[in-house]
Amino acid sequence: MTDLENLLSERLADAFAAVAGERVDPVVRRSQHADFQADGALPLARRLGRAPREVAADALGRADLAGLVATAEISGPGFINLRLRDDALAGLVTAMSTDQRLGVPVTGAPETVIVDYSAPNVAKEMHVGHLRSTVIGDAAARTLTWLGHDVRRANHVGDWGTPFGMLIEHLLDLGETEAAHELSVGDLNGFYQGARAKFDADPGFAERSRQRVVALQSGDATTLRLWRLLVDESEKYFLAVYDKLGVTLTAADFYGESYYNDLLAPVVDALDGLGLLRESDGALCVFPQGFTGRDGEPLPLIVRKRDGGYGYGATDLAAIRHRTQDLAATRLLYVVGTPQHQHLAMVHQTAREAGWLAEPARAEHVGFGQVLGADGKKLASRAGQSVKLVELLDEAVVRAAAIVAEKNPDLDADTQAEVARMVGIGAIKYVDLAGDRIKDYTFAWDRMLSFSGDTGAYLQYTHARICSIFRRGEVAADPHAAVVLDHPTERALAMELLGFPAVVAEAGRTLQFHRITGYLQGLAGAYTAFYEACPVLKADGDALRASRLLLCELTARTLAQGLDLLGIQAPTRM
Ligand code: ARG
Repeated sequence: MTDLENLLSERLADAFAAVAGERVDPVVRRSQHADFQADGALPLARRLGRAPREVAADALGRADLAGLVATAEISGPGFINLRLRDDALAGLVTAMSTDQRLGVPVTGAPETVIVDYSAPNVAKEMHVGHLRSTVIGDAAARTLTWLGHDVRRANHVGDWGTPFGMLIEHLLDLGETEAAHELSVGDLNGFYQGARAKFDADPGFAERSRQRVVALQSGDATTLRLWRLLVDESEKYFLAVYDKLGVTLTAADFYGESYYNDLLAPVVDALDGLGLLRESDGALCVFPQGFTGRDGEPLPLIVRKRDGGYGYGATDLAAIRHRTQDLAATRLLYVVGTPQHQHLAMVHQTAREAGWLAEPARAEHVGFGQVLGADGKKLASRAGQSVKLVELLDEAVVRAAAIVAEKNPDLDADTQAEVARMVGIGAIKYVDLAGDRIKDYTFAWDRMLSFSGDTGAYLQYTHARICSIFRRGEVAADPHAAVVLDHPTERALAMELLGFPAVVAEAGRTLQFHRITGYLQGLAGAYTAFYEACPVLKADGDALRASRLLLCELTARTLAQGLDLLGIQAPTRM
């Protein structure tokens, strides 16, 4: 147990309980004034009608902090400032270094978690919105898996609906071989736009397309085969992108909209049976509680359209039912852009009213903002189209290669290429995760790949530099060594290291991955200060040298683990 906040809370809890007459939170957090500050006396004093400083003194007088706390002082209106003992810190860091999991416990309450993410649309290019979903969702899947949850990835691909009429007709016009070729080389936009243009210009084509939709929905065998071809080719292409991006999504994770086709009619029947369905303009709708339009009228969620087809909402309802009832999931994450917030909120509310989303199961919209270009508008290519994802990834690797070649010309070509891939892809993921995800962010190449500052490359570089100490010194850290904290920068580094478990736990709860990037920045900074002040290989004496090597090794491992939770690789040289 190296979660320091918890450790101190536990130590203070009995004392606070004795003062309060019941268990209350001592509210321990990190502080700039000491190592930690406990603020629990303030709310407690208000409740008891006593002076806060007196309550703080009372609690402190009863607390058993022996062996852990060096000084405890009451400050300001009634805060308790706590400074830890150096030997206690050293002992905790030594323990962390012997722990494979770096002090992060496997959860005692594992859940089945669904991460609904990526979700591109068949025969349509993936855009940067899908990139964000893919990167954030993958970080969620990795982090929750590492914390010990049973994570199921659900790639809710758009593989069904009316556009398939025109897409199939276009495929027939092109011929299967040619169509498959266009799709497999990744010219999805070309294919889609070709179909769209004919649909708009040629009434005969539009009519054929409409009939094709009917044939598709009624299960016509030929039509289904052609549809399958479109889906298969697109999925192959998506998998190639995932491979480039280094995400954990696989072919087994495709749960496209079509997967729920047979569950749609039962959803409508069940909603009807529950009295939740109303007809509106010929469509069947639910009016979930709490949603009204500008005019104050209840807002409809369409489940069956006037033409008898099922909507996006019906599919999402069927998916929830499947997830909570068949897969017994209790935490449903939707990694989808903020523009779809209302849709998801309505779907979730409907599912609650239908009893398909009941405690302990709950759904969370893990929303995110847009990627903006330098002009402050939605990121677009020069032709004004949305930027093609693969091109963005390839450019990142090319740019990274130039920088790596310049910084480290001694690397052999294979290593250089490998490092460039890790740095380029890492940079893309890092900018996507390093800001508050709800906000938009501006995409700018120049800052992203810098080896210093708030970048993934800086963290990777710090990691690689530590690895080079061990290479240069031809040494390994001694797992039986003990950490001694001799210098203030060593102590500061120890405090940073011990913050890892709390940060990972928080990221698992909130899915705010900028907590992890911010933490890793702080750690890399503390390491750099330590390394500048403290000789490692030339440390004074064997014990100090072994201790410092251990701190180096532990820092490298923590950086690599933290980056891994974000899906970013840590090269050992760069
Ligand atoms: N395919 C959709 C899009 O590209 C995203 C799907 C999100 N997931 C969901 N369950 N609705 O916008």
